[in-house]
This record gives sequence, C-alpha cells and structure tokens, in this order.
Amino acid sequence: MLEERIAREATVIAPDVLRVDMFLNHMIDTDLLGELGREFYRLFGGDAITKILTVEASGIAIACAAASYFRVPVLFAKKGRSNKTLDADVYSSEIHSFTKDVTTGISVARRFLPADDRVLVIDDFLAHGSAVRGLCDIIGQSGAALAGVGIAIEKGFQPGGAVLREQGIRLESLAIIESMDGGEIRFSR
Ligand code: G4P
Repeated sequence: MLEERIAREATVIAPDVLRVDMFLNHMIDTDLLGELGREFYRLFGGDAITKILTVEASGIAIACAAASYFRVPVLFAKKGRSNKTLDADVYSSEIHSFTKDVTTGISVARRFLPADDRVLVIDDFLAHGSAVRGLCDIIGQSGAALAGVGIAIEKGFQPGGAVLREQGIRLESLAIIESMDGGEIRFSR
C-alpha cells in the first residue's frame, strides 16, 4: 500500500530526496498511517514493547498510529537545547541532518524512559541513520532495551539501513527504495 502510494504520488525533488508531503510528512493520510501502524504491530507485536520512541516532528504521527495498536505511550525526543519547559534531568544526544546539513541536539526527560522499558524506535525516513543513532544513544544511556527500529521509508541506496543491520539491530522498513535515478523510483523486494 505504501509502495503504491509512493509510486503514484511521491516526487523526486533532488537526486536523493523524495517528497511525500502530500500524504506522510506535511498533509497526512490518517487511513494510510493507521495501516502503517497496524503493520508495525504485526512485525513487533510479539516483542513485549512498552514504549515507542521517535523524534519530532514527522515521526510523531507515525509513532502515534503504531502506538494505538501496541497500547503503549509514545515518547518523542525534543530538538534543540533543552530549556525550563523540559526537565533539567534529560538524556541527550546529537543528530546530524545530511539533507539540511545541520547538527541538532535532541533530548528526552529521564523520568519518561526508565531502565525497565523495552523500546521500539519509529521514524518516517531512514537515510544516513543519524536520527535513529541519536535515539539509540539515548536508549543506551537510559539502560532500557532496544527491541528494534521501524521505518516507513528507507532509502536503501543511502548507508543508514546497512549500518544498523550490521550492528545487529532489528530493522523493519515498510518500503525500501533501491534507487531514484532519473526520478524513477525503484523498490527493493
Ligand atoms: P537520517 O536521519 O537518516 O540521518 O537522515 P537525514 O539526515 O538525511 O534526514 C534529515 C531529515 O530529513 C529528517 O527529518 C528525515 O526524516 C528527513 N529526510 C531524509 N530523507 C528524506 C527524503 O528523501 N524525503 C523527505 N521528505 N525527508 C527526508 P527532520 O530534519 O528530522 O525533520 P522533520 O521533518 O522530522 O521535522
């Protein structure tokens, strides 16, 4: 379903950037998101997940769609320097956006990520994997267990997915794009 939607509506706006803002990360098709959430539950539902972790902004909607099946809370890492609106007592890390070429701090309040949590990381895109690495770093600091990583769209021609799989992390991507050369989107099967 996701692949069909990408094939029908997504556009390649740079050699390695896919625009999906018509259904995923600006205007949101909630029916589609519900199906993505259901699929993540099919894949990870037997893994005793107690929390879903993502990073603001676009990951939040997908994480919430999944959480409604898992019946667990969503925790999202906040971007930027922590301030008085967030507990001083935070786990923090850094993520580098290769598309925007900026490094951003992310943080999560310690009290929302106890060591006995079993965490599923969810995000919309996996490109270089910097966001997922930052989230895994935070999980490591907390002592919680990382059950796996669920991604809506993995760009398989960028290194993030391979690096995570080499580390032995269970990674499930719902659509994997093998190439977008010349604006033609090809999926790995
Ligand atoms: P990485 O997290 O895997 O390392 O990827 P990268 O640095 O390249 O991505 C930075 C941001 O761009 C992330 O969002 C990511 O979700 C998004 N992104 C990566 N590749 C694509 C793409 O092909 N198309 C679109 N539309 N987005 C892409 P972010 O900066 O954290 O922003 P937000 O939208 O979640 O707020």
